[in-house]
Amino acid sequence: MVKRKKIALIGAGQIGGNLALLAAQKQLGDVVLYDVEKALGLAKGKALDLNQLRAVDGLDSMLSGTSDFKDLEGADVAIVTAGIPRKPGMSREDLTEVNLGIVKDVAPKLKQYCPNAFSIVLTNPLDAMVHALWKLTGFAKKQVVGMAGVLDTSRFRFFISEAVGCSIEDVHALVLGGHGDDMVPLVRQCSVGGIPLAEVLSPDKIDAIVKRTREGGAELVKLYQTGSAYFAPAASAMQMAESYLLDRKRVLPAAALLEGEYGIQGYFIGVPVQIGAGGVERVFEVKLNEDERAMLERSFISVKKTVETIRW
Ligand code: APR
Repeated sequence: MVKRKKIALIGAGQIGGNLALLAAQKQLGDVVLYDVEKALGLAKGKALDLNQLRAVDGLDSMLSGTSDFKDLEGADVAIVTAGIPRKPGMSREDLTEVNLGIVKDVAPKLKQYCPNAFSIVLTNPLDAMVHALWKLTGFAKKQVVGMAGVLDTSRFRFFISEAVGCSIEDVHALVLGGHGDDMVPLVRQCSVGGIPLAEVLSPDKIDAIVKRTREGGAELVKLYQTGSAYFAPAASAMQMAESYLLDRKRVLPAAALLEGEYGIQGYFIGVPVQIGAGGVERVFEVKLNEDERAMLERSFISVKKTVETIRW
């Protein structure tokens, strides 16, 4: 008998709720939405609401809400969105202290109840929080990954497709580096239907798109006023979870622990990785030119600075 997979969603807020919807719609497994006790109603309410759409869509995935971590026991995948989102005027780094406290609360429970879960972190500041979760759980590096690159790349692809007026499917792109304003959208590797981007858009237009991609999160925080993006982050994380659960071996940009790749040792940062049943099965090294290397170095310095402020 093939057992249905179990997907633990730690944090039942905006992203958590959308992750639950996507997991159910893609029939990836049963979903448990976990949140703190004072948000138990939110977790249970979202699970109930979503269970009530299963008949409409003919979905077998069962959803439940809890504030008891034991209910996550044996999860195959854990997606961590527990944490505070940004408010207008805040940087992701402003969240470090509060969200580190939350990761410190989650990590030991995750280790105890879900020791084998492929763990995808979304909590910001992303590169530092995935580092913290990895360190505090003691999980293998292939078991822990941060979601940022898929989202940043998806934003980049959208802005390009809009400017060119072409199908988003034909835009291929890659964003490397930390999930901050100095992330590295790789213009040289970007193409539209196989044609280099520089042959399709003017340098001014490309520069404006790179800037808007880097500030993509802040643009949404300003529009929403009360929080940050949630539809696209949830879809991005679910793509990673799906690649693990179905052993798709997708090559996706994500924050992985580097041990010498790109000249970086002992830090998480966004790079292309292969995600399959073995977790982060491979890190790909893109050949960068001098400018790109300098941009990645700048982004890494920012990530390192944030990690260095952490009091373990
Ligand atoms: N354990 C579990 N859940 C927690 C904990 C904790 N210790 N502390 C807070 N939470 C929950 C909150 O109760 C809330 O329901 O995390 C949830 C976060 O949901 P939202 O506030 O709606 O935030 P969301 O938009 O989902 O973003 C979550 O992801 O992209 C990042 O910057 C974003 O750090 C933020 C995180």
